[in-house]
Amino acid sequence: MFLHLDGGGPVYAQLIRALKRAILEGRLSAGTRLPSTRILAEELNLSRTTVTAAYEQLQVEGFLNSHRGSGNYINPVAIAPTVLISDTTISPQSRYTARARRSYDRTISELHNNGTRYNLQYGNPLINPSLSTMWGRELARASAYTPLLAVDTQGLEALREQICDYLARRRGIVTTPDNIIVVNGAQQAYTLAARVLVNEDETIVMEEPHYHGAYQALIAHGAKVQPVPVDGDGLIVDELPPSQPRLICVTPSCQFPTGSVLSPQRRMDLLHYASKNNCWILEDDCDNEFYYEGRPPAALRSLDQHDQVIYVGTFSKILFESLRIGYIVVPSSLRKDFVIAKYFNDFSSTGIEQAALANFMRDGGLERHLRLARIRLRSRRESLLHALRKYAGQHVDILHSVAGMHIVTWLKHFSHDRAKLLLDLANERGLGLHPIALHFKVPPNRPGFILGYSSLSSAALHQAMKLFGECLNEAQMRRVSNVIEEQRVHCL
Ligand SMILES: Cc1ncc(COP(=O)(O)O)c(C=O)c1O
Repeated sequence: MFLHLDGGGPVYAQLIRALKRAILEGRLSAGTRLPSTRILAEELNLSRTTVTAAYEQLQVEGFLNSHRGSGNYINPVAIAPTVLISDTTISPQSRYTARARRSYDRTISELHNNGTRYNLQYGNPLINPSLSTMWGRELARASAYTPLLAVDTQGLEALREQICDYLARRRGIVTTPDNIIVVNGAQQAYTLAARVLVNEDETIVMEEPHYHGAYQALIAHGAKVQPVPVDGDGLIVDELPPSQPRLICVTPSCQFPTGSVLSPQRRMDLLHYASKNNCWILEDDCDNEFYYEGRPPAALRSLDQHDQVIYVGTFSKILFESLRIGYIVVPSSLRKDFVIAKYFNDFSSTGIEQAALANFMRDGGLERHLRLARIRLRSRRESLLHALRKYAGQHVDILHSVAGMHIVTWLKHFSHDRAKLLLDLANERGLGLHPIALHFKVPPNRPGFILGYSSLSSAALHQAMKLFGECLNEAQMRRVSNVIEEQRVHCL
């Protein structure tokens, strides 16, 4: 009998799938007697127990009828008319799906895993090896006393208290646990903000360039994004549109990805614009934890007199990526709507992780981790900058920044086609480069890269920059092939 085991999961489950497929496709017709468990086991080189388990499951599901002593027969009533399940994707079933498909760009997740020797990935926190052990201990401790009942939709009270304390100490934000909602990372905060605040086809403002994950979530929701440029002082507030946008998304502490800091004057101007135009501001306070010169300016939320700033923070970018815990400080007038949106989304975030994090914060673990991470990141940043200037200085303009976990470089005298050649060359040699163009709505007129330094040691960063310099030299010498010249596919 021809049965194809697909290799996924336990063997008995593979056998069940193979038999069901044969039945549904009509290759095993109603009334057919199946081989005995011994014979099928021999034929497929499986244990008899495996075949018996599969037959028993198919009997329970009504596919087989077992006659004691005479074997297993395909049950006629179990067979629906043959339906061939197609693997091809059907046309989008909703407007959301259509937009989501258009905006979903797998390159982000693929870049995360590109497996190169020197991957200059950005957006990930520094891996502190002892964090795994500490976190394991916290989880075990938390699971021993955290009730397994559903958690409050807004999040565990103990964690919300710690977050309030943390925000007051570090960001000058005065709030209460009532106005905090624990979410599954900043990404969920963006999705909830879209649900609560934005209707399809309404205009929102995003910085240009911007964080691509937020952009995708918002346009999939149906928002029309109006890009507003940034310069060395962050968002150019004077270029905000005269018509009232619903929402303005900003990264004031460390503009993503350029690293500029929104100046004090522009902070005040932005708040003034929002109150005059009656719109909301979403402040994504990413990278405020990693300042290398001075301290981050006060958060917009701490200056907000009109309760118009929705403040978003995340632990995924300071502890570890898979943690998926973030938080929103919501204006009181929006609290109820955000809680309902969170409830409909997933009831609540997971309890044990929240309890573990609350303990970790209360015992000073987070502050210790941040101190250590800042020291290591600073030394990696210096190594990268030193080697970048040394090996690639003549080819790049380095954007000035004082915070964050990456550096932005623009290429001098490189066309987009030549930069594509550079990217291929670097990839062949084990250097993972990440074009900045992904974060622009309108592609920039020259190529640039975001060089993440949190995942590589100083020595590895030195080697990576040496390789970068070699690739730049070679790409500049080479003739750009006709194919690439003609394609002009990617702006980097
Ligand atoms: C500016 C910015 N906001 C949000 C996020 C995502 O945060 P989270 O992992 O908590 O969803 C990132 C990730 O790189 C980011 O760069």
